[in-house]
Amino acid sequence: MSLKQKDKQYIWHPFDQQKGADIIPIVKGLGAFVFDEHGKKYIDGFSSWWVNIHGHAHPYIAQKIYQQALELEHIAFGGFTHPQAVNLSERLIHLLPNNIEKLFFSDNGSTANEVALKMAVQYWFNQGKKRTRFIALENDYHGDTFGSMSLTARGGFNEPFETLLFDVDFIDAPTNENKDSVLNKLENHLKTNEIAAFIFEPIIQGAAGMLMHSPEILSEMIGLCKTYGVVTIADEVFTGFGRTGKWFASDYFQHKPDVFCLSKGITGGFMPLGITAVSKDIYQAFYSDNAKHTFLHGHSYTGNPLACAAANASLDLFEVENTFEKIENICQLQKTFIESIQHHKQVRNARHFGTIAAIELQTDGKSNYFNSKGKEVYQFLLKKGIILRPLGNVITIIPPYCIVEEDLKTLYQGIVEYLNQ
Ligand SMILES: Cc1ncc(COP(=O)(O)O)c(C=O)c1O
Repeated sequence: MSLKQKDKQYIWHPFDQQKGADIIPIVKGLGAFVFDEHGKKYIDGFSSWWVNIHGHAHPYIAQKIYQQALELEHIAFGGFTHPQAVNLSERLIHLLPNNIEKLFFSDNGSTANEVALKMAVQYWFNQGKKRTRFIALENDYHGDTFGSMSLTARGGFNEPFETLLFDVDFIDAPTNENKDSVLNKLENHLKTNEIAAFIFEPIIQGAAGMLMHSPEILSEMIGLCKTYGVVTIADEVFTGFGRTGKWFASDYFQHKPDVFCLSKGITGGFMPLGITAVSKDIYQAFYSDNAKHTFLHGHSYTGNPLACAAANASLDLFEVENTFEKIENICQLQKTFIESIQHHKQVRNARHFGTIAAIELQTDGKSNYFNSKGKEVYQFLLKKGIILRPLGNVITIIPPYCIVEEDLKTLYQGIVEYLNQ
């Protein structure tokens, strides 16, 4: 049996309908490329679900994980610590805004958010107050665990589970047009004294199709929450580590969130790792002589030394490879490409922010994840050796930072050929 046949026999892959799914065995990665079992080369234009920021199989990160594995592969994080976690924490605290003082480890983006929402509720509980409601943005996606599904916009992904999700107050993402009404709605919710926290995907709502909103108004919203003492949580799982052109999307804000949720790019795509970074104020609400104030949450692999070693190596690469210069170059190329195709007759809307670009294709009715155009584009580009994973009728380009101009232009050319056919 071939690899593909065996895969079909034994494995259930995420997100795609398995009936009719065409799964491609990939056997090697190198920089911005991956290779299938027949040696066919593909440009990874979506950084393998937005995680491989330095490209594939970077020898420096691989070496650091290997060295760490020979030293200490794992130690329970309850009661113990290790140099890689301490080093990583110190470095991240320096990169995050000044108000952030403590890091809590988990394993992925959903759990980073799950931890944040549990912390927000217990933050109030520990002060003898019952605040259990959340505000989130319409179209937000925060992950696939029950808490993070609850914080995710209704419809689409989570329909079978909707009756089991807790109620959340959703408000529209802010734009110059809806500014007053959004700020009013937010304030009305804040005035109820029932809100534990406001969570948001800052500036770019990834899974919804790279929808983009106003950094300035979102910052004002954070400021308003602060006036009412409500916790603000930036889900930077996708936007962190240079995606937006700065370390974090929140670096564009005047008012800094109290909690940051990080994952995806944190280890350069080598190891699963989630981090929930919090302000002193949040941490202090748990620091107590009362055992009930303890945060009783943790996962077996929390703080895994190999994951931390990968994250430290990824941060090293930002320094030694001048990654922010590469990021700046990609930002410019994305901008130029988007401007060149935004008036194409097949394009409903084209947008970019930082290293992120999205092309919304014309289609009957509203854009949505279940639109079949995405599959058509996917297959068209695959034949040309380009991997992009459109979100419904939205083509998204989220390249690894190591991609060179020539390869990015090959990818653009593929999209233009699709649009012109
Ligand atoms: C903004 C955001 N939050 C959370 C998640 C969930 O992360 P994970 O898939 O690692 O659980 C994602 C994943 O796409 C995301 O984009």
